[in-house]
Amino acid sequence: MGAMNEPSSKPKVIVLGSGPIRIGQGIEFDYCSVHCVWALREAGYEAVLINNNPETVSTDFDTSDRLYFEPLTAEDVLNVLDREAPYEGVIVQFGGQTAINLARPLAEAGVRILGSSADSIDLAEDREQFELLLRKLDIPKPAGRAVTSPDAAVEVAREVGYPCLVRPSYVLGGRAMEIVQTDDELRSYMRYAVDVSPRAPILIDRYVVGKEVEVDCISDGERCLLPGVMEHIERAGVHSGDSMAVYPPQSLAPETIEKMVDYATRLARAMNVVGLMNIQFVCEGDEPYIIEVNPRASRTVPYLSKITGVPMVKAATRCILGESLASQGYESGLWKHPRGDRQNPAVKAPVFSFQKLAGVDIPLGPEMKSTGEILGQDVDYPRALYKALLAAGVDVPLKGGALLATIADADKEEALPVLQGFAALGYRLFATGGTWRFLRKSGVEAERVNKISEGAPNLLDLVHSGRVDVLINTISKDKRIEREGAQIRRASVERNVPCLTSLDTARALLLALRARRAGEEMEVRTVDEYLRADTTPEPVLPR
Ligand SMILES: Nc1ncnc2c1ncn2[C@@H]1O[C@H](COP(=O)(O)OP(=O)(O)O)[C@@H](O)[C@H]1O
Ligand SMILES: [Mg+2]
Repeated sequence: MGAMNEPSSKPKVIVLGSGPIRIGQGIEFDYCSVHCVWALREAGYEAVLINNNPETVSTDFDTSDRLYFEPLTAEDVLNVLDREAPYEGVIVQFGGQTAINLARPLAEAGVRILGSSADSIDLAEDREQFELLLRKLDIPKPAGRAVTSPDAAVEVAREVGYPCLVRPSYVLGGRAMEIVQTDDELRSYMRYAVDVSPRAPILIDRYVVGKEVEVDCISDGERCLLPGVMEHIERAGVHSGDSMAVYPPQSLAPETIEKMVDYATRLARAMNVVGLMNIQFVCEGDEPYIIEVNPRASRTVPYLSKITGVPMVKAATRCILGESLASQGYESGLWKHPRGDRQNPAVKAPVFSFQKLAGVDIPLGPEMKSTGEILGQDVDYPRALYKALLAAGVDVPLKGGALLATIADADKEEALPVLQGFAALGYRLFATGGTWRFLRKSGVEAERVNKISEGAPNLLDLVHSGRVDVLINTISKDKRIEREGAQIRRASVERNVPCLTSLDTARALLLALRARRAGEEMEVRTVDEYLRADTTPEPVLPR
Protein backbone atom coordinates (compact mmCIF):
# COMPACT_ATOMS: atom_id res chain seq x y z
CA MET A 1 0.00 0.00 0.00
CA GLY A 2 2.12 2.84 -1.31
CA ALA A 3 4.72 4.59 0.74
CA MET A 4 3.76 2.91 3.99
CA ASN A 5 5.12 -0.48 3.00
CA GLU A 6 8.15 0.44 0.98
CA PRO A 7 11.40 -0.99 2.30
CA SER A 8 13.54 1.64 3.92
CA SER A 9 17.19 2.02 4.70
CA LYS A 10 16.49 3.30 8.20
CA PRO A 11 17.15 1.11 11.23
CA LYS A 12 13.92 -0.42 12.41
CA VAL A 13 12.46 -0.82 15.90
CA ILE A 14 9.36 -2.75 16.91
CA VAL A 15 7.09 -1.29 19.63
CA LEU A 16 4.54 -3.35 21.53
CA GLY A 17 1.28 -1.73 22.61
CA SER A 18 -0.99 -2.91 25.39
CA GLY A 19 -4.06 -4.31 23.67
CA PRO A 20 -7.61 -3.65 24.85
CA ILE A 21 -8.22 -1.08 27.56
CA ARG A 22 -9.46 -2.40 30.90
CA ILE A 23 -9.35 -1.47 34.56
CA GLY A 24 -5.70 -1.37 35.60
CA GLN A 25 -4.36 -0.99 32.10
CA GLY A 26 -5.88 1.97 30.39
CA ILE A 27 -5.24 4.60 27.81
CA GLU A 28 -1.97 5.68 29.49
CA PHE A 29 -0.12 2.99 27.60
CA ASP A 30 -1.49 4.20 24.31
CA TYR A 31 -0.09 7.63 25.18
CA CYS A 32 3.27 6.03 25.93
CA SER A 33 3.33 3.89 22.78
CA VAL A 34 2.50 6.86 20.58
CA HIS A 35 5.16 9.05 22.16
CA CYS A 36 7.68 6.26 21.80
CA VAL A 37 6.89 5.91 18.11
CA TRP A 38 7.19 9.66 17.60
CA ALA A 39 10.52 9.72 19.41
CA LEU A 40 11.82 6.82 17.32
CA ARG A 41 10.86 8.47 14.07
CA GLU A 42 12.32 11.77 15.15
CA ALA A 43 15.57 9.97 15.96
CA GLY A 44 15.70 8.58 12.42
CA TYR A 45 14.29 5.13 13.04
CA GLU A 46 11.50 3.30 11.35
CA ALA A 47 8.87 2.44 13.94
CA VAL A 48 6.74 -0.67 13.60
CA LEU A 49 3.88 -1.01 16.01
CA ILE A 50 1.94 -4.07 17.16
CA ASN A 51 -1.36 -3.44 18.91
CA ASN A 52 -4.84 -4.77 18.40
CA ASN A 53 -7.01 -2.05 19.86
CA PRO A 54 -8.75 -0.08 17.11
CA GLU A 55 -9.84 2.77 19.40
CA THR A 56 -6.34 4.02 20.16
CA VAL A 57 -4.12 6.64 18.58
CA SER A 58 -1.26 4.16 18.40
CA THR A 59 -3.28 2.18 15.87
CA ASP A 60 -4.04 5.19 13.70
CA PHE A 61 -2.94 4.68 10.11
CA ASP A 62 -0.23 7.31 10.22
CA THR A 63 1.11 7.01 13.76
CA SER A 64 3.74 4.39 13.01
CA ASP A 65 5.60 3.48 9.84
CA ARG A 66 3.87 0.11 9.85
CA LEU A 67 1.10 -1.23 11.99
CA TYR A 68 0.11 -4.79 12.81
CA PHE A 69 -3.29 -5.46 14.30
CA GLU A 70 -2.17 -8.62 15.99
CA PRO A 71 -2.79 -9.95 19.49
CA LEU A 72 -0.04 -9.30 22.01
CA THR A 73 0.96 -12.91 22.51
CA ALA A 74 4.45 -14.34 22.05
CA GLU A 75 3.36 -16.40 19.07
CA ASP A 76 1.71 -13.56 17.17
CA VAL A 77 4.49 -11.13 17.95
CA LEU A 78 7.14 -13.63 16.80
CA ASN A 79 5.27 -14.05 13.51
CA VAL A 80 5.41 -10.31 12.95
CA LEU A 81 9.09 -10.25 13.88
CA ASP A 82 9.82 -12.98 11.32
CA ARG A 83 8.22 -10.88 8.68
CA GLU A 84 9.96 -7.68 9.75
CA ALA A 85 13.49 -9.08 10.11
CA PRO A 86 16.05 -7.58 10.14
CA TYR A 87 15.32 -5.08 12.91
CA GLU A 88 17.24 -3.55 15.82
CA GLY A 89 15.07 -4.93 18.57
CA VAL A 90 11.76 -4.71 20.39
CA ILE A 91 10.60 -2.13 22.94
CA VAL A 92 8.30 -3.72 25.51
CA GLN A 93 8.24 -1.11 28.30
CA PHE A 94 5.53 1.21 27.01
CA GLY A 95 2.74 -1.32 26.57
CA GLY A 96 1.88 -1.91 30.22
CA GLN A 97 2.02 -5.31 31.87
CA THR A 98 0.79 -7.05 28.70
CA ALA A 99 3.85 -6.00 26.73
CA ILE A 100 6.34 -6.37 29.54
CA ASN A 101 5.15 -9.93 30.14
CA LEU A 102 6.36 -10.77 26.65
CA ALA A 103 9.96 -9.80 27.42
CA ARG A 104 10.91 -13.23 28.75
CA PRO A 105 9.33 -15.39 26.01
CA LEU A 106 10.68 -13.08 23.29
CA ALA A 107 14.17 -13.03 24.80
CA GLU A 108 14.08 -16.83 24.98
CA ALA A 109 13.23 -16.93 21.29
CA GLY A 110 16.41 -14.93 20.66
CA VAL A 111 14.80 -11.51 20.25
CA ARG A 112 16.74 -8.48 21.40
CA ILE A 113 14.80 -6.48 23.98
CA LEU A 114 15.77 -2.81 23.84
CA GLY A 115 16.09 -0.86 27.09
CA SER A 116 15.77 -2.71 30.39
CA SER A 117 16.44 -6.37 29.63
CA ALA A 118 14.24 -9.35 30.38
CA ASP A 119 16.56 -10.08 33.31
CA SER A 120 16.02 -6.62 34.78
CA ILE A 121 12.29 -7.04 34.38
CA ASP A 122 12.32 -10.47 36.02
CA LEU A 123 14.37 -9.10 38.87
CA ALA A 124 11.60 -6.65 39.76
CA GLU A 125 8.94 -9.33 39.52
CA ASP A 126 10.69 -12.17 41.28
CA ARG A 127 10.02 -11.45 44.89
CA GLU A 128 12.93 -13.43 46.32
CA GLN A 129 15.53 -11.98 44.00
CA PHE A 130 14.14 -8.52 44.49
CA GLU A 131 14.20 -8.76 48.27
CA LEU A 132 17.78 -9.91 48.17
CA LEU A 133 18.68 -6.91 46.06
CA LEU A 134 16.89 -4.51 48.40
CA ARG A 135 18.70 -6.00 51.36
CA LYS A 136 22.02 -5.67 49.57
CA LEU A 137 21.29 -2.02 48.80
CA ASP A 138 19.99 -1.45 52.33
CA ILE A 139 16.62 -0.18 51.07
CA PRO A 140 13.66 -0.96 53.34
CA LYS A 141 10.47 -2.76 52.34
CA PRO A 142 7.57 -3.87 54.56
CA ALA A 143 8.41 -7.18 56.24
CA GLY A 144 6.76 -10.18 54.66
CA ARG A 145 7.17 -13.47 52.82
CA ALA A 146 5.61 -15.80 50.31
CA VAL A 147 3.84 -18.86 51.70
CA THR A 148 2.20 -21.93 50.26
CA SER A 149 0.11 -23.20 53.17
CA PRO A 150 -2.38 -21.77 55.67
CA ASP A 151 -0.15 -22.69 58.63
CA ALA A 152 2.84 -20.97 57.15
CA ALA A 153 0.63 -17.96 56.44
CA VAL A 154 -0.39 -17.64 60.07
CA GLU A 155 3.20 -18.04 61.17
CA VAL A 156 4.41 -15.22 58.91
CA ALA A 157 1.49 -12.99 59.84
CA ARG A 158 2.25 -13.35 63.54
CA GLU A 159 5.89 -12.69 62.87
CA VAL A 160 5.33 -9.43 60.94
CA GLY A 161 2.30 -8.46 63.00
CA TYR A 162 -1.32 -7.74 62.06
CA PRO A 163 -2.80 -6.06 60.07
CA CYS A 164 -1.33 -7.83 57.06
CA LEU A 165 -1.84 -7.50 53.38
CA VAL A 166 -2.42 -10.83 51.61
CA ARG A 167 -2.53 -11.52 47.90
CA PRO A 168 -1.62 -14.13 45.33
CA SER A 169 1.76 -13.53 43.71
CA TYR A 170 1.78 -12.28 40.13
CA VAL A 171 -1.50 -10.41 40.15
CA LEU A 172 -2.16 -7.02 38.72
CA GLY A 173 -4.41 -4.19 39.81
CA GLY A 174 -4.40 -5.46 43.39
CA ARG A 175 -6.71 -8.31 42.44
CA ALA A 176 -7.76 -10.65 45.27
CA MET A 177 -5.79 -8.50 47.68
CA GLU A 178 -7.09 -8.16 51.21
CA ILE A 179 -6.17 -6.61 54.49
CA VAL A 180 -6.57 -9.14 57.31
CA GLN A 181 -6.60 -8.41 61.02
CA THR A 182 -6.66 -11.81 62.70
CA ASP A 183 -5.61 -15.46 62.33
CA ASP A 184 -9.23 -16.32 61.57
CA GLU A 185 -9.55 -13.79 58.78
CA LEU A 186 -6.28 -14.99 57.33
CA ARG A 187 -7.31 -18.65 57.46
CA SER A 188 -10.62 -17.93 55.81
CA TYR A 189 -8.83 -15.96 53.09
CA MET A 190 -6.51 -18.91 52.53
CA ARG A 191 -9.48 -21.27 52.46
CA TYR A 192 -11.98 -19.41 50.33
CA ALA A 193 -10.46 -16.52 48.50
CA VAL A 194 -7.65 -18.09 46.56
CA ASP A 195 -6.14 -21.28 45.28
CA VAL A 196 -2.91 -21.90 47.06
CA SER A 197 -0.25 -24.20 45.70
CA PRO A 198 3.52 -24.33 45.65
CA ARG A 199 3.35 -22.96 42.11
CA ALA A 200 1.04 -20.13 43.14
CA PRO A 201 2.27 -18.82 46.48
CA ILE A 202 0.47 -16.23 48.57
CA LEU A 203 2.28 -13.09 49.61
CA ILE A 204 1.93 -11.79 53.13
CA ASP A 205 3.22 -8.34 54.04
CA ARG A 206 3.05 -6.14 57.05
CA TYR A 207 0.41 -3.55 56.27
CA VAL A 208 2.09 -0.20 56.77
CA VAL A 209 -0.30 2.55 57.78
CA GLY A 210 0.91 5.77 56.26
CA LYS A 211 1.25 7.95 53.23
CA GLU A 212 1.64 6.37 49.85
CA VAL A 213 3.99 8.07 47.44
CA GLU A 214 4.85 7.30 43.87
CA VAL A 215 7.69 8.27 41.57
CA ASP A 216 8.45 7.69 37.92
CA CYS A 217 12.04 7.81 36.81
CA ILE A 218 14.03 7.74 33.62
CA SER A 219 17.34 5.92 33.67
CA ASP A 220 20.07 5.68 31.06
CA GLY A 221 21.73 2.81 32.92
CA GLU A 222 24.06 5.10 34.81
CA ARG A 223 22.05 8.09 35.88
CA CYS A 224 18.47 8.54 36.88
CA LEU A 225 16.12 11.49 36.48
CA LEU A 226 12.98 11.79 38.60
CA PRO A 227 10.62 14.27 36.94
CA GLY A 228 8.48 14.38 40.08
CA VAL A 229 7.19 12.86 43.27
CA MET A 230 3.45 12.33 43.65
CA GLU A 231 1.89 12.20 47.07
CA HIS A 232 -1.29 10.16 47.37
CA ILE A 233 -4.12 11.83 49.22
CA GLU A 234 -5.63 8.60 50.52
CA ARG A 235 -3.35 6.63 52.81
CA ALA A 236 -1.76 3.36 51.69
CA GLY A 237 -4.28 0.57 51.32
CA VAL A 238 -6.15 2.40 48.58
CA HIS A 239 -4.85 1.20 45.24
CA SER A 240 -2.60 3.72 43.51
CA GLY A 241 -4.97 3.72 40.55
CA ASP A 242 -7.91 4.71 42.77
CA SER A 243 -6.32 7.25 45.05
CA MET A 244 -6.11 10.94 44.44
CA ALA A 245 -2.58 12.21 44.11
CA VAL A 246 -0.96 15.59 44.16
CA TYR A 247 2.18 16.95 42.57
CA PRO A 248 4.24 18.48 44.10
CA PRO A 249 3.96 16.69 47.47
CA GLN A 250 2.22 18.78 50.13
CA SER A 251 3.28 17.15 53.35
CA LEU A 252 6.48 15.19 52.82
CA ALA A 253 9.62 16.09 54.69
CA PRO A 254 12.53 17.05 52.42
CA GLU A 255 14.56 14.18 53.95
CA THR A 256 11.86 11.72 52.93
CA ILE A 257 11.99 12.93 49.36
CA GLU A 258 15.78 12.80 49.41
CA LYS A 259 15.66 9.21 50.58
CA MET A 260 13.26 8.26 47.83
CA VAL A 261 15.44 9.90 45.21
CA ASP A 262 18.46 8.06 46.59
CA TYR A 263 16.67 4.68 46.65
CA ALA A 264 15.33 5.14 43.11
CA THR A 265 18.72 6.16 41.76
CA ARG A 266 20.56 3.26 43.34
CA LEU A 267 17.86 0.76 42.36
CA ALA A 268 17.75 1.87 38.74
CA ARG A 269 21.47 1.41 38.53
CA ALA A 270 21.61 -1.93 40.34
CA MET A 271 18.78 -3.27 38.19
CA ASN A 272 20.30 -1.94 34.96
CA VAL A 273 17.15 -0.07 34.15
CA VAL A 274 17.30 1.66 30.81
CA GLY A 275 14.16 3.66 30.11
CA LEU A 276 11.29 4.13 32.54
CA MET A 277 10.71 2.79 36.02
CA ASN A 278 7.85 3.38 38.45
CA ILE A 279 8.26 2.98 42.21
CA GLN A 280 5.55 2.99 44.85
CA PHE A 281 6.44 3.77 48.45
CA VAL A 282 4.56 3.74 51.69
CA CYS A 283 5.88 6.09 54.36
CA GLU A 284 5.75 5.24 58.01
CA GLY A 285 6.32 8.67 59.46
CA ASP A 286 9.25 10.00 57.47
CA GLU A 287 10.56 6.57 56.55
CA PRO A 288 9.78 5.41 53.01
CA TYR A 289 9.39 1.68 52.35
CA ILE A 290 9.31 0.32 48.82
CA ILE A 291 6.14 -1.61 48.02
CA GLU A 292 6.41 -2.05 44.30
CA VAL A 293 8.80 -1.46 41.43
CA ASN A 294 7.80 -1.69 37.79
CA PRO A 295 10.58 -1.32 35.23
CA ARG A 296 8.18 0.11 32.69
CA ALA A 297 5.91 3.03 31.91
CA SER A 298 3.14 3.49 34.42
CA ARG A 299 -0.27 5.10 34.71
CA THR A 300 1.25 8.32 36.03
CA VAL A 301 3.65 8.98 33.13
CA PRO A 302 1.24 11.06 31.01
CA TYR A 303 0.08 13.10 34.03
CA LEU A 304 3.60 13.74 35.26
CA SER A 305 4.86 14.59 31.76
CA LYS A 306 2.16 17.20 31.34
CA ILE A 307 2.58 18.90 34.68
CA THR A 308 6.36 18.92 34.78
CA GLY A 309 6.96 19.61 31.11
CA VAL A 310 9.46 16.76 30.92
CA PRO A 311 8.70 14.70 27.80
CA MET A 312 9.26 11.51 29.73
CA VAL A 313 8.59 8.93 27.05
CA LYS A 314 10.73 10.75 24.56
CA ALA A 315 13.62 11.03 27.03
CA ALA A 316 13.23 7.36 27.96
CA THR A 317 13.12 6.30 24.30
CA ARG A 318 16.33 8.24 23.65
CA CYS A 319 17.95 6.39 26.56
CA ILE A 320 16.71 3.10 25.12
CA LEU A 321 18.36 4.03 21.82
CA GLY A 322 21.65 4.52 23.66
CA GLU A 323 21.76 8.24 24.40
CA SER A 324 22.64 9.38 27.88
CA LEU A 325 20.47 11.70 29.96
CA ALA A 326 23.34 14.19 30.04
CA SER A 327 23.58 14.29 26.25
CA GLN A 328 19.87 15.15 26.21
CA GLY A 329 20.48 18.05 28.57
CA TYR A 330 19.14 16.47 31.77
CA GLU A 331 20.79 16.40 35.14
CA SER A 332 20.25 13.37 37.34
CA GLY A 333 18.21 13.38 40.51
CA LEU A 334 14.99 15.23 41.13
CA TRP A 335 13.90 17.42 38.22
CA LYS A 336 14.19 21.10 38.90
CA HIS A 337 10.85 22.54 37.97
CA PRO A 338 11.00 25.82 36.01
CA ARG A 339 8.89 27.42 38.76
CA GLY A 340 11.25 26.31 41.52
CA ASP A 341 9.31 25.72 44.70
CA ARG A 342 6.38 27.85 43.51
CA GLN A 343 4.87 25.09 41.45
CA ASN A 344 1.18 25.07 40.69
CA PRO A 345 -0.30 21.99 42.33
CA ALA A 346 -1.87 19.38 40.09
CA VAL A 347 -4.33 16.90 41.56
CA LYS A 348 -5.19 13.65 39.87
CA ALA A 349 -8.52 12.11 40.82
CA PRO A 350 -9.98 8.76 39.81
CA VAL A 351 -13.21 8.49 37.89
CA PHE A 352 -15.44 5.47 38.48
CA SER A 353 -18.13 3.79 36.44
CA PHE A 354 -20.13 2.27 39.26
CA GLN A 355 -23.44 3.24 37.72
CA LYS A 356 -22.65 0.95 34.85
CA LEU A 357 -21.24 -1.83 37.00
CA ALA A 358 -24.27 -3.11 38.87
CA GLY A 359 -23.42 -5.15 41.92
CA VAL A 360 -19.90 -3.80 42.37
CA ASP A 361 -19.32 -2.38 45.83
CA ILE A 362 -17.59 0.96 45.83
CA PRO A 363 -15.29 1.27 48.84
CA LEU A 364 -11.74 2.17 48.08
CA GLY A 365 -9.29 -0.60 48.85
CA PRO A 366 -6.21 -2.35 47.53
CA GLU A 367 -8.14 -3.60 44.50
CA MET A 368 -8.35 -1.09 41.68
CA LYS A 369 -11.83 -0.12 40.49
CA SER A 370 -11.56 3.19 38.67
CA THR A 371 -11.92 3.38 34.92
CA GLY A 372 -10.37 6.75 34.28
CA GLU A 373 -8.87 9.82 35.81
CA ILE A 374 -8.96 13.58 35.61
CA LEU A 375 -6.59 16.37 36.49
CA GLY A 376 -7.29 19.56 38.39
CA GLN A 377 -4.68 22.29 38.35
CA ASP A 378 -4.68 25.72 39.96
CA VAL A 379 -2.43 28.15 41.77
CA ASP A 380 -2.82 26.45 45.14
CA TYR A 381 -3.61 23.03 46.53
CA PRO A 382 -7.18 23.61 47.79
CA ARG A 383 -8.28 25.05 44.47
CA ALA A 384 -6.62 22.28 42.48
CA LEU A 385 -8.37 19.80 44.78
CA TYR A 386 -11.71 21.47 44.25
CA LYS A 387 -11.40 21.27 40.48
CA ALA A 388 -10.32 17.64 40.60
CA LEU A 389 -13.14 16.59 42.92
CA LEU A 390 -15.73 18.49 40.94
CA ALA A 391 -14.59 16.96 37.67
CA ALA A 392 -14.59 13.51 39.26
CA GLY A 393 -18.25 13.96 40.10
CA VAL A 394 -17.98 15.03 43.75
CA ASP A 395 -20.19 18.05 43.23
CA VAL A 396 -21.53 19.20 46.58
CA PRO A 397 -23.04 22.52 47.69
CA LEU A 398 -20.73 25.20 49.05
CA LYS A 399 -23.16 25.88 51.87
CA GLY A 400 -26.40 24.61 53.26
CA GLY A 401 -25.80 21.08 52.12
CA ALA A 402 -26.66 17.89 53.94
CA LEU A 403 -24.29 15.12 54.88
CA LEU A 404 -25.08 11.60 56.02
CA ALA A 405 -22.39 10.01 58.17
CA THR A 406 -22.14 6.40 59.08
CA ILE A 407 -18.69 5.87 60.49
CA ALA A 408 -17.03 2.66 61.64
CA ASP A 409 -16.03 2.61 65.32
CA ALA A 410 -12.35 2.54 64.51
CA ASP A 411 -12.68 5.77 62.52
CA LYS A 412 -14.97 7.81 64.77
CA GLU A 413 -12.29 9.85 66.55
CA GLU A 414 -10.60 10.69 63.30
CA ALA A 415 -13.90 11.59 61.65
CA LEU A 416 -14.85 14.10 64.32
CA PRO A 417 -12.92 17.15 63.08
CA VAL A 418 -14.02 16.39 59.53
CA LEU A 419 -17.70 16.29 60.47
CA GLN A 420 -17.28 19.37 62.66
CA GLY A 421 -15.76 21.07 59.64
CA PHE A 422 -18.79 20.31 57.49
CA ALA A 423 -21.09 21.51 60.27
CA ALA A 424 -19.12 24.75 60.41
CA LEU A 425 -19.74 25.19 56.69
CA GLY A 426 -23.44 25.09 57.47
CA TYR A 427 -24.01 21.47 56.55
CA ARG A 428 -26.92 19.68 58.13
CA LEU A 429 -25.61 16.40 59.55
CA PHE A 430 -27.51 13.12 59.56
CA ALA A 431 -26.01 10.10 61.30
CA THR A 432 -26.82 6.51 62.17
CA GLY A 433 -27.12 5.43 65.83
CA GLY A 434 -23.52 4.91 66.90
CA THR A 435 -22.17 7.84 64.92
CA TRP A 436 -25.02 10.03 66.16
CA ARG A 437 -24.31 9.15 69.82
CA PHE A 438 -20.64 9.79 69.31
CA LEU A 439 -21.33 13.19 67.74
CA ARG A 440 -23.75 14.18 70.48
CA LYS A 441 -21.25 13.18 73.16
CA SER A 442 -18.68 15.35 71.38
CA GLY A 443 -21.06 18.29 71.25
CA VAL A 444 -21.87 18.13 67.53
CA GLU A 445 -25.48 18.46 66.53
CA ALA A 446 -26.85 15.82 64.19
CA GLU A 447 -30.13 14.17 63.31
CA ARG A 448 -30.47 10.49 63.93
CA VAL A 449 -31.49 8.17 61.08
CA ASN A 450 -32.43 4.52 61.29
CA LYS A 451 -30.20 1.85 59.87
CA ILE A 452 -31.95 -0.48 57.46
CA SER A 453 -32.42 -3.13 60.14
CA GLU A 454 -33.99 -0.57 62.49
CA GLY A 455 -37.07 -0.18 60.32
CA ALA A 456 -38.54 2.48 58.07
CA PRO A 457 -37.97 5.27 57.42
CA ASN A 458 -34.26 4.54 57.32
CA LEU A 459 -31.16 5.98 55.72
CA LEU A 460 -31.95 4.38 52.36
CA ASP A 461 -35.20 6.36 52.28
CA LEU A 462 -33.24 9.47 53.15
CA VAL A 463 -30.76 8.90 50.31
CA HIS A 464 -33.54 8.12 47.84
CA SER A 465 -35.48 11.21 48.92
CA GLY A 466 -32.67 13.31 47.44
CA ARG A 467 -32.21 15.23 50.68
CA VAL A 468 -28.54 14.42 51.21
CA ASP A 469 -25.72 15.79 49.10
CA VAL A 470 -22.88 13.61 50.26
CA LEU A 471 -22.32 10.43 52.24
CA ILE A 472 -19.36 9.55 54.37
CA ASN A 473 -19.32 5.84 55.03
CA THR A 474 -16.18 4.18 56.29
CA ILE A 475 -15.84 0.44 56.16
CA SER A 476 -16.47 -1.56 59.29
CA LYS A 477 -14.72 -4.77 60.22
CA ASP A 478 -18.07 -6.12 61.36
CA LYS A 479 -19.57 -8.29 58.61
CA ARG A 480 -23.14 -7.62 59.75
CA ILE A 481 -22.71 -3.87 59.58
CA GLU A 482 -21.00 -4.25 56.24
CA ARG A 483 -23.98 -6.01 54.66
CA GLU A 484 -25.93 -2.83 55.26
CA GLY A 485 -22.97 -0.71 54.22
CA ALA A 486 -22.98 -2.24 50.76
CA GLN A 487 -26.67 -1.41 50.33
CA ILE A 488 -26.14 2.16 51.43
CA ARG A 489 -23.27 2.63 49.02
CA ARG A 490 -25.27 1.09 46.20
CA ALA A 491 -28.13 3.50 46.92
CA SER A 492 -25.70 6.40 46.69
CA VAL A 493 -24.56 5.20 43.28
CA GLU A 494 -28.13 4.88 42.08
CA ARG A 495 -29.05 8.34 43.33
CA ASN A 496 -25.78 9.76 42.10
CA VAL A 497 -24.89 11.09 45.54
CA PRO A 498 -21.12 11.07 46.15
CA CYS A 499 -20.15 8.52 48.78
CA LEU A 500 -16.71 8.90 50.33
CA THR A 501 -15.33 5.79 51.97
CA SER A 502 -11.99 7.25 52.98
CA LEU A 503 -11.66 10.01 55.56
CA ASP A 504 -8.67 11.27 53.62
CA THR A 505 -10.91 12.03 50.65
CA ALA A 506 -13.46 13.64 52.96
CA ARG A 507 -10.77 15.84 54.50
CA ALA A 508 -9.61 16.86 51.03
CA LEU A 509 -13.17 17.78 50.08
CA LEU A 510 -13.50 19.88 53.20
CA LEU A 511 -10.27 21.70 52.46
CA ALA A 512 -11.47 22.41 48.93
CA LEU A 513 -14.89 23.64 50.06
CA ARG A 514 -13.38 25.91 52.68
CA ALA A 515 -11.13 27.56 50.13
CA ARG A 516 -14.04 27.97 47.77
CA ARG A 517 -16.21 29.40 50.53
CA ALA A 518 -13.48 31.84 51.46
CA GLY A 519 -14.11 33.33 48.05
CA GLU A 520 -11.14 31.96 46.21
CA GLU A 521 -11.80 32.09 42.51
CA MET A 522 -10.83 29.29 40.20
CA GLU A 523 -8.15 30.16 37.70
CA VAL A 524 -8.53 29.49 34.00
CA ARG A 525 -5.13 28.99 32.49
CA THR A 526 -3.52 26.83 29.89
CA VAL A 527 -1.38 23.93 31.02
CA ASP A 528 1.52 25.84 29.59
CA GLU A 529 0.86 28.87 31.74
CA TYR A 530 0.73 26.74 34.86
CA LEU A 531 4.09 25.31 33.92
CA ARG A 532 5.79 28.60 33.18
CA ALA A 533 7.39 30.67 35.84
CA ASP A 534 5.81 34.12 35.58
CA THR A 535 9.08 35.64 36.66
CA THR A 536 10.83 33.74 33.86
CA PRO A 537 8.63 34.12 30.79
CA GLU A 538 10.81 31.78 28.76
CA PRO A 539 11.11 28.52 30.67
CA VAL A 540 14.48 26.89 30.51
CA LEU A 541 13.42 23.43 29.41
CA PRO A 542 15.84 20.97 27.88
CA ARG A 543 15.15 20.14 24.29
N1 LIG B 1 2.79 -3.25 52.78
C1 LIG B 1 1.78 -2.43 52.47
N2 LIG B 1 1.25 -1.60 53.40
C2 LIG B 1 0.21 -0.78 53.10
N3 LIG B 1 -0.38 -0.74 51.90
C3 LIG B 1 0.09 -1.52 50.92
C4 LIG B 1 1.21 -2.40 51.14
N4 LIG B 1 1.44 -3.06 49.98
C5 LIG B 1 0.54 -2.62 49.09
N5 LIG B 1 -0.29 -1.69 49.64
C6 LIG B 1 -1.43 -1.01 49.02
O1 LIG B 1 -2.02 -1.86 48.04
C7 LIG B 1 -2.01 -1.24 46.75
C8 LIG B 1 -1.71 -2.27 45.66
O2 LIG B 1 -0.44 -2.87 45.92
P1 LIG B 1 0.68 -2.98 44.80
O3 LIG B 1 1.79 -3.77 45.38
O4 LIG B 1 1.03 -1.63 44.30
O5 LIG B 1 -0.06 -3.86 43.70
P2 LIG B 1 -0.42 -3.63 42.15
O6 LIG B 1 0.45 -4.58 41.42
O7 LIG B 1 -1.83 -4.01 42.04
O8 LIG B 1 -0.16 -2.20 41.81
C9 LIG B 1 -0.96 -0.15 46.85
O9 LIG B 1 -1.24 0.90 45.96
C10 LIG B 1 -1.05 0.26 48.32
O10 LIG B 1 -2.08 1.20 48.53
MG1 LIG C 1 0.81 -0.70 42.47
